[in-house]
Amino acid sequence: MTSKKGRVFSGARPTGRQHIGNYFGAIRNYVKLQDDYDCIYCIVDLHALTTLDTTRDLRQNTLEMAWDWLAAGMDPKRSIIFVQSMVRQVTELHTILSMVTPLGKLTDLPTFKEKVRENPKNINYGLVGYPVLMSADIALYRADVVPVGIDQAPHVEFARETVRSFNFRYNTNALIEPKEKFTEFPKILGIDGVNKMSKSLNNDIELAATAEETTARVMQMVTDPARQRRSDPGNPDICNVFSLHKMFTPPEKVAEINIECRRAGIGCVDCKRILAANMNAYFAPLREKRRVFENDPEGTWDMLRDGAARASLLAEETMVDVRAAVGLPALQKG
Ligand code: AMP
Ligand code: TRP
Repeated sequence: MTSKKGRVFSGARPTGRQHIGNYFGAIRNYVKLQDDYDCIYCIVDLHALTTLDTTRDLRQNTLEMAWDWLAAGMDPKRSIIFVQSMVRQVTELHTILSMVTPLGKLTDLPTFKEKVRENPKNINYGLVGYPVLMSADIALYRADVVPVGIDQAPHVEFARETVRSFNFRYNTNALIEPKEKFTEFPKILGIDGVNKMSKSLNNDIELAATAEETTARVMQMVTDPARQRRSDPGNPDICNVFSLHKMFTPPEKVAEINIECRRAGIGCVDCKRILAANMNAYFAPLREKRRVFENDPEGTWDMLRDGAARASLLAEETMVDVRAAVGLPALQKG
């Protein structure tokens, strides 16, 4: 890798097909940052194990996600793209970092409490340590920039503090403190218009959906709840259909909808039709490109293994310094 402005690392759990929240919150930045940074992108399958009770679909979900990434313009020639479990040093660094992590800090995190609420029967040890593994991901590759959606900000802050504690405890600068980076849309709401778009809430719109599926999802979107009849004026400021128009619809048309909605000049059905058509036009090239990758799953695994081999070299460089700083014996003589 050539050294550009710095090093970028980000990861996402293999949830299968990605949605427009992932796309506008994270993937668009992953693609853009490739121009100026050395970028490393990881499908974090070990993290996924913290909440899964079956791993039946894990490999397929890994592929589905990789295909969306590649189709969106993430480029394995310019960046390292790999699967977390393929570079084993991350579990070693996770263990070492866990020793500088106060347990109470983990159990106090809002993200942990949310998982406990969602799934009270599966509170495993790994789930508590989720942010420590994430810190290990970032620190292992000495990344200073971490593109994520806003929901991950507490985790990146946690990683920064973990690195600081490690460097302080062992009087070293072996690890680098990371900082988060957001897109201009760091939190996309789902079709319910209330919650963050998320696969587990089934309020998402997939990038790789067909045009018909996309239109059907858009038509289900919740708009301004106070607008009951077509003749009622609407309020675009609280309407998620309007928010999404800003991503897919030319600015002049967005300005027109803004005016027409407020005076009931346009109805929600027509407004959604325009959105669905623009969304389908926007994602048409991505969907076409994706088909090429879908036809070659073996090629995708080769690409991911190649990425892991390149990532392993960087990981081992860091671990040599970490082991020395901690006082563990070196693996190689000399
Ligand atoms: P996840 O699929 O939850 O592992 O998220 C992968 C990446 O997408 C992370 O950087 C998230 O912060 C981001 N992300 C997920 N959902 C949304 C959303 N609704 N709006 C913005 N960013 C999101
Ligand atoms: N926790 C992140 C999420 O749920 C995924 C993740 C794991 C990650 N390791 C990371 C994100 C390192 C950024 C950097 O989306």
